[in-house]
Amino acid sequence: MAKELKTIGVLTSGGDAPGMNAAIRAVVRTAIARGLKVKGIKKGYQGLLNEEIIDMESRSVSEIIQKGGTILGTARCLEFKTKEGQQKGAEICRKHGIDGIVVIGGDGSYRGAQALSRLGINTIGIPGTIDLDIACTDYTVGFDTAINTAMTAIDKVKDTSSSHERCSIIEVMGRNAGYIALWCGVANGAEDILLPEKYDFNEQEIINNIIVNRRRGKTHHIIINAEGIGHSTSMARRIEAATGIETRATILGYMQRGGNPTCKDRYYASIMGSYAVDIMLQGKTNRVVGHQHGEFVDFDIEESLNMQKGIDEYQWEVAHLLQ
Ligand code: ADP
Ligand code: F6P
Repeated sequence: MAKELKTIGVLTSGGDAPGMNAAIRAVVRTAIARGLKVKGIKKGYQGLLNEEIIDMESRSVSEIIQKGGTILGTARCLEFKTKEGQQKGAEICRKHGIDGIVVIGGDGSYRGAQALSRLGINTIGIPGTIDLDIACTDYTVGFDTAINTAMTAIDKVKDTSSSHERCSIIEVMGRNAGYIALWCGVANGAEDILLPEKYDFNEQEIINNIIVNRRRGKTHHIIINAEGIGHSTSMARRIEAATGIETRATILGYMQRGGNPTCKDRYYASIMGSYAVDIMLQGKTNRVVGHQHGEFVDFDIEESLNMQKGIDEYQWEVAHLLQ
């Protein structure tokens, strides 16, 4: 028998992502509309353990849907990976009358949610990461803004690269996942795309391509390199030495995690935030919200963590065909 929910908490955890505020807003307003009280937990699990907990009203989330970052703050909290930390977190929830928590973050954050659920606190996860690397969903809040930010920046680097007839290596985020690199590689018409999932690239082939393309009269050569491959600066030095063509590295970095969320991120975050509250009210716990085949869905956290996601081979082939 599901226990009756009176008060729920909401927190953001792990790397921030544009659209997290829209998700917080949806959680708060849906919960209030359904007759629940809402508490905001600041700085992820760290804030829970420090009891940084605030009451949230409908007006607490006014004027945030368009803002990047997260008004609740986020953190990485090692203590929460321990049994003691998790038990302390569950006790703090009980002390503050928090029956359930909506956790906005990635796979690591769901592990924390799973632990709390086992300790009697209902939890629902919402996928919030610019990396798109959550297997149970084809969409994660933040990805659309990040790729548009990166795409616009890459267009600009390409302009100056062409003017100077240089080669450019542009590093985008994604330590373990190459979705940002793949999407921007296609959208920016890059000559080469390097992803952590396809680590076996051949640098000599890239060098040969640059030389052949230059002979054919191409004025630029753009290589999109994912953070997981990294070493863009040393790669640029090697390419310049081997080709004799000026080569520069640009690391886009954290600009990709900030900025006003796109319409798509605001929309998905809003629906997912409401959906999370509604399934929690149905008595569900230890679930993560996803989007698949045009529908919003939810999965058991363990099941979702065991799912695999990889770069689609057809899309990878097309990315090469168009180079
Ligand atoms: P993300 O949620 O984006 O994957 P992290 O992997 O950094 O980001 O995880 C965010 C936070 O979730 C961690 O700092 C920690 O507090 C919590 N967390 C991660 N792994 C676990 C785990 N195995 N058990 C409990 N909590 C965890
Ligand atoms: O998960 C989002 C992300 O931006 C990754 O693309 C990147 O590898 C990582 O976070 C960087 O995290 P940190 O904030 O610890 O530098």
